[in-house]
Amino acid sequence: MLYRRLGRTDLQVSEVSYGAARGASSDFAQFDATIKAAIEAGLNFIDTAESYDGGESERALGKILRGHDDVIIETKYRPYDSHSPDANYDGTPDALVRSAEESLRRLQRDRLDILLGHGIRTLESLDRFMNDGCYDAMVKLRDQGKVRFIGISELSEGDGTHEILKQAVPTGVFDVVMLTINMLLQTAIDSTAPLCRQHDVGTVVMMPLNQASKESGLVSMEAALECVRRHIAAGNLPDASPYTDADLFSFLAPYSIPQASLRFVLAQDVSTCCAGTRSPQRLAENLTVVDPPYLDDARLARIRELFSGIQSQVR
Ligand SMILES: NC(=O)c1ccc[n+]([C@@H]2O[C@H](COP(=O)([O-])OP(=O)(O)OC[C@H]3O[C@@H](n4cnc5c(N)ncnc54)[C@H](OP(=O)(O)O)[C@@H]3O)[C@@H](O)[C@H]2O)c1
Repeated sequence: MLYRRLGRTDLQVSEVSYGAARGASSDFAQFDATIKAAIEAGLNFIDTAESYDGGESERALGKILRGHDDVIIETKYRPYDSHSPDANYDGTPDALVRSAEESLRRLQRDRLDILLGHGIRTLESLDRFMNDGCYDAMVKLRDQGKVRFIGISELSEGDGTHEILKQAVPTGVFDVVMLTINMLLQTAIDSTAPLCRQHDVGTVVMMPLNQASKESGLVSMEAALECVRRHIAAGNLPDASPYTDADLFSFLAPYSIPQASLRFVLAQDVSTCCAGTRSPQRLAENLTVVDPPYLDDARLARIRELFSGIQSQVR
């Protein structure tokens, strides 16, 4: 495993990290086995949230990570009434503090490594988060020693060009952001990632496989082609060759689609690539990608040429 600096936090984080959004309650044994295999392989960064799996993700991590205080946990407070892009903002400082206290209790820790405002999705709600007490509550938790570092994550489904982070990062008040970069949503590579570098903000990449389902996303040739068809239907890509060709992705061989996708993210100037999987076997496949330079220039250039024009996330 290789490690990268997480911006101004100065933490050294494994370049592949683990997204614990799913799996804790559906199959604890599998979740436990996957996380233990990840730690065994040197992975030292796990992303979770109070809202994942109704708190079960944090609760399970609390059990599994007993004795692993060196594993960095990032958790989040969601100031909205749901995960939906049109959810109502309902963030309050009291709710944020309660949520952080609950996270500490479920994670069985006396300090949160990283606390993010979760899925900030409009400029108006960013403004409310910053000015109605939530941001101040985060700072207070940090001053009290209950949180080490603070930040926000975006909602890329509703913000494919990262307008929220473009506004938030230059304020200089955040240590870490979570953002989407993948082969089919590359917009942050030339905008947000350089901004983060300029402000020394740590970058945790989410959805490196485009939050794939089995049907659509960067998990298999068929699912990747289906995602491209959905982009064509949405008017984001031309309805013509090479996008309509069955061998569109064959230039990525010998890598599988998930391997090439993770390699594409690791080839960018980001701190860590956070992928979610509920399977130790798929985790093992995902960990084979840690070998710089990850992808050769010809494949990188072809991925940029084909998909860098896409401005919105389609799943
Ligand atoms: N706004 C936010 O803050 C936000 C939003 C989204 C995600 N996140 C975080 O980012 C993490 C990563 O994002 P994500 O999990 O949504 O999306 P992702 O990592 O892009 O994709 C996860 C999907 O890919 C599948 N998968 C993983 N490795 C595979 C492989 N080698 N072969 C085939 N399929 C594979 C997983 O299925 P299996 O589980 O069946 O293996 C799962 O369905 C999340 O877990 C979460 O921690 C944060």
